[in-house]
Amino acid sequence: MERYNYGMVGLGVMGRNLLYNIADNGFSIAGFDLDEEKVKELEEGATSTMKVKGIGSLEDFVAALESPRKIILMVPAGKPVDAVLENITPLLSKGDIVIDAGNSYFEDTNRRVADLGSKNLHFMGMGVSGGEKGARTGPSIMPGGDLEAFNLLQPMLEAIAAKVDNEACTAYMGKGSAGNYVKMVHNGIEYAIMQLISEAYDLLKRGAKLNNDQLYEVFREWNNGEMNSFLIEITRDIFQQKDTFTDQYLIDQILDKAGAKGTGKWTSEQAMEIGVSIPTIDIAVTSRILSAYKEERVQASQLYPKAEIATPENTDQFIKEVGDALYLATLISYAQGLALLVKASEEYKFEIPLKDVVKIWRGGCIIRSVLLEKFYTAYTKDPNLSNILLDADIAAIVKEKIGPLRKTAAFAVSSGVSGLGLQTALGYFDAYTTEYLPINLIQAQRDYFGAHTYQRLDREGVFHTSWQSVNQ
Ligand code: 6PG
Repeated sequence: MERYNYGMVGLGVMGRNLLYNIADNGFSIAGFDLDEEKVKELEEGATSTMKVKGIGSLEDFVAALESPRKIILMVPAGKPVDAVLENITPLLSKGDIVIDAGNSYFEDTNRRVADLGSKNLHFMGMGVSGGEKGARTGPSIMPGGDLEAFNLLQPMLEAIAAKVDNEACTAYMGKGSAGNYVKMVHNGIEYAIMQLISEAYDLLKRGAKLNNDQLYEVFREWNNGEMNSFLIEITRDIFQQKDTFTDQYLIDQILDKAGAKGTGKWTSEQAMEIGVSIPTIDIAVTSRILSAYKEERVQASQLYPKAEIATPENTDQFIKEVGDALYLATLISYAQGLALLVKASEEYKFEIPLKDVVKIWRGGCIIRSVLLEKFYTAYTKDPNLSNILLDADIAAIVKEKIGPLRKTAAFAVSSGVSGLGLQTALGYFDAYTTEYLPINLIQAQRDYFGAHTYQRLDREGVFHTSWQSVNQ
């Protein structure tokens, strides 16, 4: 009986496309799904050179795989993963490898690694980014965990991943559930950048009064230069999309309520948990929450009507400043996410290679951008950099763009356009680069009302003062 090199559980859009990508690269692969239609469609959609088989019985599927079995799960995170594992593990043999390629929570992965490990099975968490198209033509792949299992998969992963300068956008992300963690933070950064782009759009639309054709031109130009990135590129295209129901642009027909599947929220929760400041990511998460208060926002907008936004005097200069502000706030968002990875790597003993993280994010994934080249250079110089804002070459860029970020944030503040992402990026930068913060006062207050003690600048130790009320 013919045995297949790989198995894929879950033949939804992502699973099917990743499977075809694997098959395109010369590996034979069997696919399983509970939905018979999907199993049937799998072979119909394959090309003649692919060695692909759709199997509707889990027993037959497992039996059709070569040993050790290498089974990729592409099912929704959470309960569906546990359900698959419950059914499949009794059918597996010692040394078989299960790779979870969904957006699973890292602690779920830790639990599953231990559970399958006790049955002599390998379980790995592997982030995959790039959406449907990326899965088919080359995603960014973030595997972590069992090194022995990773070594077996590496040739296939390198073959199917996106390539930048002939280098595959995949690398070992560290121990345990590091693969899921890195993907979670990738998504947190994704949330922040999307928030910032939406604010830039708002400023250009309501401030500079640009129409969709003009917005297309601005984003086209941005994408042709130093701001080149996947998210700027798709935003450019969005401004040209016509609606099928009306003769309008589709963007203007879309309800302003954002969905979220949870990875952004997890990133923020994690940052709070291990004590890392990532306010631009936090604000991006909370902005999506706030967007859902549509009815209240409508009510409030009537109660607090805003003055007409004054058009900036020099439109070209304003566009340039908004672009520079977006560029720098984006850089600061990456800095926050990467700082979270640095701390998480210590905290959870992941041993995440930051240099490889930014290297494999250069292609295939949603947050790919030319900016990542600069981070790659920074980590090549110093792999232990705690924050990319501390790199001298990055500092030179920041110094060039900080003026425009201030001006843009100030414009948003004075005109009543909500620029939460831009403002928090700036506020984070200002706090991070301030030698002496006013937190001395918070420490004094804490000690005053709760005897929480404080440390001093001029001597070692912990101090408490019996603070005197002036009115006493
Ligand atoms: C990717 C994306 C993807 C994510 C979507 C939706 O890297 O390909 O991050 O994994 O699921 O972007 O995320 P939200 O629904 O939370 O916006």
